[in-house]
Amino acid sequence: MNIANDKISVGGIPVADLAQRFGTPLYVYDEAKIRENYRRVYQTFTKYYPDFEMFYAVKCCNNPAIVNIMRQEGAGADCASVNEILLAKSVGLTGEKVMFSGNFLSDDDIRQGLESGVIFNLDDISILPRLLKFGTPEMISFRVNPGYGKSNVGEYVTNAGPNAKFGLHPSQVTEAYRQAKAAGIKRFGAHMMTGSCITDADYFPFVTGLLMDIIGQTGKELGIDFEFIDLGGGLGIPYQVGEEGLDLERAAMKTAEMFRTKSAEYGLKPPQLKMEPARYFVGNAGYLIGTVHSIKESYKKIIGTDIGMNVLCRPAMYGSYHHIYVDGKESHDRAALGLCGQLCENTDFWVKDRQLPADIQEGDLVVVENAGAYGFGMSYQYNGRLRAAEVLVHDGQADLIRARETFEDMVRHTTVPAHLKG
Ligand SMILES: Cc1ncc(COP(=O)(O)O)c(C=O)c1O
Repeated sequence: MNIANDKISVGGIPVADLAQRFGTPLYVYDEAKIRENYRRVYQTFTKYYPDFEMFYAVKCCNNPAIVNIMRQEGAGADCASVNEILLAKSVGLTGEKVMFSGNFLSDDDIRQGLESGVIFNLDDISILPRLLKFGTPEMISFRVNPGYGKSNVGEYVTNAGPNAKFGLHPSQVTEAYRQAKAAGIKRFGAHMMTGSCITDADYFPFVTGLLMDIIGQTGKELGIDFEFIDLGGGLGIPYQVGEEGLDLERAAMKTAEMFRTKSAEYGLKPPQLKMEPARYFVGNAGYLIGTVHSIKESYKKIIGTDIGMNVLCRPAMYGSYHHIYVDGKESHDRAALGLCGQLCENTDFWVKDRQLPADIQEGDLVVVENAGAYGFGMSYQYNGRLRAAEVLVHDGQADLIRARETFEDMVRHTTVPAHLKG
């Protein structure tokens, strides 16, 4: 994003032009920035641990165009459901380029996951016997909860530790692999995903050490090697203005060091190191453009926009911060203002007293920063307010990669029984 003479542009294209051409609310992704983010992580980690592979967590931003960018860069896909596996397949990612890390799976999920031939990453020991009813995969991985997790929005996206719903308790891990080995499974991986948006570089080697102690013990006891160990995602980005970002160099160096040391300590044949970052690639490469439609002065002054919590739910759901810019007015005097969406919910307040340009008016465009991760993917329809359009900017050009929803989309799949029609 660039601001020149107060005018905001993304990927060299003025947001005013994008809004005029595609309407608002509009998600805009900067392809060059996504690729740059991916390459930074890949190059930094391979410098310290060359046998390194990444799987993009599709849930973060599931537009096939984005998943294709990841595939072109060399990433596989981490999928949470069968439909995400199908999405990965639709862009050419299959077999061991896909990791299935769903939780609390149905029998259908298990059967279809197995038939798809992807790497199965089981969230619980109880899934194994259910899976074996449908077949015996060549390789299996278990998701371990090493007892500790963290995030930048508290428990909301802390995915490990005693209060998390994910993963096997450390005391179950050896038994899980013992059962898998006894069932004839020959190849093994191990996985964890302990939290999202972590900007503390030392966190990554710390949790790696926890996982390696659990897995190392299991490997030693059962005499099995782990082909890969997947440390999950979690590489954080700064959301607050002036917030310090992740020291990626330190995170990679210290994590690789811990990984090597622990592999040697437990006599493991050096496993491949896998990771599944997502936010780090697309978070700061995505922007949400909205329009100010109405301003009221009641008990206080409130700026009403078309970017409700159904369009970007993170502020209402997690209380998370997103910086908001106003096109054409960034250098203007500021006042503490409230800004909201159009939903009939009082949680649809983005901010209650944010310093925004005091002369913000109807028709102005607002641009929300860091909207690429868990933005569109977590959006929904409510109050007849529908999902936004998505655009990819690249080489000074903008392509529509998802059309805005219409009334037909809102009523699609609904049926009114005959007795209600008279
Ligand atoms: C299993 C799994 N892997 C990877 C990720 C990506 O995490 P992040 O966006 O924090 O890198 C997630 C996100 O929740 C996840 O559930």
